Amino acid sequence: MIRINPEEISERENYKLLTGTVIPRPIALVTTLSEEGVLNAAPFSYFNIVTADPPLISVSIQRKKGIRKDTSRNAIARGEFVVHIADEGYVGQLNATAASLPPEESEVALAGLTAVPSERISVPGIAEAKVRLECVLEQAIPLGGTAEAPTVDMLIGRVVRYHLDDAIADERYHIDAAALQPVSRLAGASYSKLGELFEVERPS
Ligand SMILES: Cc1cc2nc3c(=O)[nH]c(=O)nc-3n(C[C@H](O)[C@H](O)[C@H](O)COP(=O)(O)O)c2cc1C
Repeated sequence: MIRINPEEISERENYKLLTGTVIPRPIALVTTLSEEGVLNAAPFSYFNIVTADPPLISVSIQRKKGIRKDTSRNAIARGEFVVHIADEGYVGQLNATAASLPPEESEVALAGLTAVPSERISVPGIAEAKVRLECVLEQAIPLGGTAEAPTVDMLIGRVVRYHLDDAIADERYHIDAAALQPVSRLAGASYSKLGELFEVERPS
């Protein structure tokens, strides 16, 4: 086995090791509204469930030279955002939203995605996604760096409304993973589709 001390390697090398080994990572396409009302969208793969009781999810957003990205700035200012699960149907458009646009320009328009109003929050979602989670900001936790200059904000969102495409869910809330066609992120520009499914019985 190769043994590595993270304190002896660079930030870039730690990034390569983590994004290459913690795979596949689910991808959240997050929409937010700026104070001027511009609809922002960007993908994030440092994304997961925190707990189902209450329904909380987390998204970690790096700061760029100490400055928050539009998504974390808007989500913290407004206290609301929408998380969409990446799927094969719109992965090309999702990738286009990762463009670094100035705050007054919308990645949604750039990518040719369609905004759809939310029910419980003021931030619209994206119609192309098969899963939309309307979220209110539960907590924004600054982490990394120093207390004065954190390097990342972990957003904890509470899901206040689920929107599910009819084709992926039944009345008992079972989700058909094959119909959802989720896309996940590996290292660099690599993505993966759902592979072979199999079941393992839990020990009693
Ligand atoms: C598939 C994918 C996953 C990404 N995951 C993250 C992530 O977890 N955290 C992060 O800070 N940036 C991530 N990025 C980069 C952001 O999407 C990118 O910085 C984007 O421009 C931020 O947009 P904003 O300034 O509108 O918030 C990812 C990019 C791609 C394409």
